[in-house]
Amino acid sequence: MRIFSGIQPTGIKHLGNYIGAIRQYVDGQERAAASGDDSLFCVVDLHALTVAYDPAELRDRVYDTTAILLAAGLDPDKCILFRQSDVRQHSELTWMLSAVVPNGRLARMHQFRDKSVAQRDLVSAGLLFYPVLMAADVLAYRADEVPVGEDQREHLELMRDAARDVNKRFAPDLGSGEGGEGGLLIVPEQRTPEVGARIMDLQEPTRKMSTSAASPEGTVYVLDEGKALEKKFKRAVTDSDSGEGSIRYAPKEKPGVSNLLEILAASRRTSIDEAVASLAGARGYGDLKMATLAAVDEELTPIRERYAELRPDVAAIEEALAKGAARASELAEETMVDVREAMGVGIPRAVQAKASSR
Ligand code: TYM
Repeated sequence: MRIFSGIQPTGIKHLGNYIGAIRQYVDGQERAAASGDDSLFCVVDLHALTVAYDPAELRDRVYDTTAILLAAGLDPDKCILFRQSDVRQHSELTWMLSAVVPNGRLARMHQFRDKSVAQRDLVSAGLLFYPVLMAADVLAYRADEVPVGEDQREHLELMRDAARDVNKRFAPDLGSGEGGEGGLLIVPEQRTPEVGARIMDLQEPTRKMSTSAASPEGTVYVLDEGKALEKKFKRAVTDSDSGEGSIRYAPKEKPGVSNLLEILAASRRTSIDEAVASLAGARGYGDLKMATLAAVDEELTPIRERYAELRPDVAAIEEALAKGAARASELAEETMVDVREAMGVGIPRAVQAKASSR
């Protein structure tokens, strides 16, 4: 069971990233090791070039994000943690996949449409190509499973279709790559957590929590603490119900309350039913907010503390990333040798074998 996921170097990640994805990485690291396979986690700096950015700042944001991952429990001795741009095969495979990915489909992707509307100056070709690079990230390692939040579903579908199309067109004899069956490329499965796959903004609970779009007061960052953290939860938007039965999970009808319940349950690692039951004696939404704040604070405090220790040591972060990149390159090259051969690109395997036997 090989696991791969990627995360953008947007600096300090938010609670949605943490609950929806990062916590699953730590769990994935253990599951992959138990199965005798690798888990790979990649800070996707090349994806950051698709919107306006500052080069010097980008390097710092990579360190911030890597330090958050390390603080959350990724261990470079157990998993492969690396920076995307250090492994050139990602860029190469992106181009190879472009042979099978329809342009019209890229133009219809939700993220492309939303982000291209939001761009004031340039809608870059990179923004259109974002999902192809993401497909290459995963397919280069023949990963079986991709832990992500719910919002990545469309990207995962495109990735799965790209793998199927490459297999069908260039290597039909090698197998379909579906459901763990061999193939030139593996068709990977999306894995989202049962609770917390889509954490919503605390101020606008019908929109997902996000770094770019939503309100600063509605976005909880992994490093928020004390009064700032408290204020965000105290001011969380709920609804005007009161009395018995008002604390219940009904995302359509009660988005704010349901989001708090989801955050509470995820932070305590219980079910939503258990979270609701634990509030049976509550006097109102104030109690729900305070319980959620306490659970989140308990979860994030150790990460905050470890981050403060790790982030200043840039040399150690670079060392961890370099170690990951070396191993990731080996694994990606194993796939690329086969992909080049199947797609008729580069030195034919037979010629190479002859040359090296001389
Ligand atoms: P990024 O950095 O935007 O998000 C990182 C992860 O956080 C999840 N997430 C959420 N989960 C629950 N609730 C939310 N409100 C929420 N917001 C974000 C995302 O689903 C994601 O798992 N395209 C990816 C980066 C990427 C990638 C990859 C992922 C590049 N290559 C290959 C997997 C495999 C992204 O936007 O990350």
